[in-house]
Amino acid sequence: MSALPFIRVSNIWQQYGDQVVLEGLSLDIAEGEFCTLVGASGCGKSTFLRLLLGQERPSKGRILLSGTPLADEPDASRGVVFQRYSVFPHLSVLDNVAIGLELPRAPLLGRLLGKAKREAREQAAAMLARVGLGHALDKYPSQLSGGMQQRLAIAQALIMKPRILLLDEPFGALDPGIRKDMHGLLLELWNETRLTVFMVTHDLSEGFSLGTRLLVFDKVRHDPHAPNAFGARITYDIPLNSGRRAAIELLPTHLVDSLQADHQGAQA
Ligand SMILES: Nc1ncnc2c1ncn2[C@@H]1O[C@H](COP(=O)(O)OP(=O)(O)OP(=O)(O)O)[C@@H](O)[C@H]1O
Ligand SMILES: [Mg+2]
Repeated sequence: MSALPFIRVSNIWQQYGDQVVLEGLSLDIAEGEFCTLVGASGCGKSTFLRLLLGQERPSKGRILLSGTPLADEPDASRGVVFQRYSVFPHLSVLDNVAIGLELPRAPLLGRLLGKAKREAREQAAAMLARVGLGHALDKYPSQLSGGMQQRLAIAQALIMKPRILLLDEPFGALDPGIRKDMHGLLLELWNETRLTVFMVTHDLSEGFSLGTRLLVFDKVRHDPHAPNAFGARITYDIPLNSGRRAAIELLPTHLVDSLQADHQGAQA
C-alpha cells in the first residue's frame, strides 16, 4: 500500500455562477513542501488558497488532508497571511498575537484570566521577538511599517502552530530590500518548523528562489464567445530542489514574459 500524501487535491473545479475559475486540478503535496504559486491576475490563485483553507468548498472534487476530507471550516491546522489587512487595527501588537491563543480556550469569557493569560502573552512575546518585533509589543498596527505589519501577520499565523501556512502575496506591498529580509525570515521559520507552505506571488524570481516546487496556474482553453466557460489549470509543476536557477528555462518564453509583465503591472 502506498503511503497517503499529506495533501491530496483531486479533480477540483471551482465555479461562481457561470464563471469557471478552476478546472480539474489534481495534485499531491508532501508534508514540509514549500509550493509557490504563480499565474496571471484573476486566474484563481487566491481561490485555490481559500479552498485549501476550507473557507470555501469546491464546486466539484475534493481535498484530503492526511486522507481525511477537509473540515468545513478553517481550523487551527491552517494558518493564513493575506496581502493586507489581516491584523486587528484596534489591538496592540502583543494582543494581536496573544488573542489567537486566548480566544479558542475561553470562548465564553473571551479572554483568559491569570496564569493562562500570562502564559499566552509570554508565548506571543517570544514569537514576536522571533520575527523582530520584540521592541514593538505595545504599538498599534497603524504605527508599524508595511514590513512590520506583515511580520506581525506571520507571527499571528505561526502562534497557532499550523501544519499548513497559506501566504497570499504576503510581500507584494514591500520594498525590495525589506522583501529580501522577509524571505530570509520565512525560510528560517520554515526550516525550523517544517511547515507545509503555499505562497502566491506575482514575482517570478521569488517563485523560483523560495520554494521546493513551483505551480503555474494558466487558462489553456479559451472560447471568445464564452469567456467564462473555462478555468485555469496547473500547467507546470516544477520541482525546485536542485538547479532552481535553470528551472525558469523550463517555462516557455511567452509565459515568462506575460507573468513578468503582469508583475511589473502590479508594481506600477
Ligand atoms: N466569491 C466569489 N464570487 C464570484 N466570483 C469570484 C469569487 N471569488 C473569486 N471570484 C472570481 O474568480 C476569479 C479568480 O479570482 P482570484 O482572486 O482567485 O484570482 P487570483 O489569481 O488570486 O488573482 P490576483 O493575482 O489578481 O490576486 C476572478 O475572476 C474573480 O472575480
Ligand atoms: Mg489573488
